[in-house]
Amino acid sequence: MRDKVLISPSILSADILDLGDDIRSISTADMVHIDVMDGNFVPNLTFGPNVVAAAKRASDLPLDVHLMVDNPDETYGLYLEAGADMLCFHYEAAKHAHRIVNAIHAAGAKACVALNPGTPVCALSSIISELDMVLIMTVDPGFGGQSFIPSSLDKLKDLEELCHSRGVAPRVEVDGGVSAKNVATVVAAGADVIVAGSAVFGDADRAAAIAAIRSAASVIDMEA
Ligand code: DX5
Ligand code: ZN
Repeated sequence: MRDKVLISPSILSADILDLGDDIRSISTADMVHIDVMDGNFVPNLTFGPNVVAAAKRASDLPLDVHLMVDNPDETYGLYLEAGADMLCFHYEAAKHAHRIVNAIHAAGAKACVALNPGTPVCALSSIISELDMVLIMTVDPGFGGQSFIPSSLDKLKDLEELCHSRGVAPRVEVDGGVSAKNVATVVAAGADVIVAGSAVFGDADRAAAIAAIRSAASVIDMEA
């Protein structure tokens, strides 16, 4: 457990035609989560590098870019150039995960690998010590507003064991179906970066929504 749980609102649930204002409305968060979907790895199609570059101009927060794309080996560089501070790609989509992680670090950014709900944590066994963050998908990727998959809690425990056995402590991000109602449970299971799309942008008062998630998470934070 880290000293602080970070909140990373997903702009997938923002108003795409009012994106600048929506990004500015989450200035009390810790990162901006940008879901890049290519219509192949997942059915949905969202943002590309140009939106990442525009978000960089609109916000001082670090950009937490989540690539849900086939073959990130060919496109990760575009997102680094666009200003991604944390670049996350899917284990299931990468051909050469280790090479991508090295390239992300060489560019001065932080590297994260994401796992789908159907992918076991042991897939990260050979790369875990290279990672700044692991993203545990707590819904099947592709859409906002889905329900949290309860077995994700066991996966968070598996990840904790793997990290402990290797003596490493990457950040652990959870993504999908997380809100103030269940954030304490995921933090107790080992998560310390919370993605929240509908739970933040579904509330007209974004600062209040972020504060509610932070407060619910900090109950466990203080006990740890
Ligand atoms: C889903 C995306 C998520 C999504 C989460 O594939 O990776 O980041 O925006 O949305 P909520 O918080 O509404 O489940
Ligand atoms: Zn995401």
